[in-house]
Amino acid sequence: QVIYLNGEYVSKENAKISVFDHGFLYGDGIFEGIRIYNGNIFKCKEHLDRLYDSAKSIMLDIPLSYTEMEQALIETIRRNEFRDGYIRLVVSRGPGNLGLDPTRCPKAWVIIIVEQLAIYSEEAYRDGLVSVSVVQRRNIPDALNPKIKSLNYLNNILVKIQANLAGVGEAIMLNAQGYVAEGSSDNIFIIKKGVVYTPPCYIGALEGITRAAIMELCDKLGYKLKEEPFTLHDVYVADEVFFTGTAAEVIAVREVDGRQIGAGKAGTITTHLLEEFRKIVD
Ligand code: PDD
Repeated sequence: QVIYLNGEYVSKENAKISVFDHGFLYGDGIFEGIRIYNGNIFKCKEHLDRLYDSAKSIMLDIPLSYTEMEQALIETIRRNEFRDGYIRLVVSRGPGNLGLDPTRCPKAWVIIIVEQLAIYSEEAYRDGLVSVSVVQRRNIPDALNPKIKSLNYLNNILVKIQANLAGVGEAIMLNAQGYVAEGSSDNIFIIKKGVVYTPPCYIGALEGITRAAIMELCDKLGYKLKEEPFTLHDVYVADEVFFTGTAAEVIAVREVDGRQIGAGKAGTITTHLLEEFRKIVD
């Protein structure tokens, strides 16, 4: 396995960062999860646009231009001989001193890891996930904006811990007003009477690229789509629920907080959207 580390291509064993790296010390950095399907980087421009936006928002100067970054991705994939896989692209503030001050980090570090990744089992895709809701808040006005895909994933990890403790596959995060925001590492959609709903990102969600692809698909397939806030009640009484994400792709939810969703398996519109999604990625 070959890792891109700060301009070098190194083996997994030699892929090491300094303990003074602020990405490690403070979560000071950003990342992207990107899929390779059939040797192609899916939605590369959308991912890199979001990466550079995240960087700008935290005043992190990425030492590679957009084109150089794209070349580094392509070369890392080539050296790993991957046709299908998952790319974790990380940009940390880089090594500095023990203080918080990012100006003490002379150079950001770019890391590109290519792996096979399946975060959910085959049966989870077939039968749908069980999920719980948590009151882990998103997008409290003074909190870190969820639109920045930063290395600060403790909020998400705490939500994942609650899903683990509940013995379920995923958890749904609410925002300070109690509106449904997203999953711990994916966006959420519900379907009611044939209409597809997803929260606007200002509710407290990452502007998911898979979310955008599914919204385009709804348009193309003639499904009515509404981007509007909804509550847990709407989730419980929905006919279908599913999550979307680069790692998750499109995965149905069969139960939330003990309430069976629809027939308790992947719904017909969810299944149709997943089938069509597979066609656009291959
Ligand atoms: N994340 N919301 C959160 C909090 C996420 O971490 C992710 C993706 C998404 C889905 O966004 P997209 O469709 O652009 O991947 C939503 C992990 C890292 C992933 O799926 O790669």
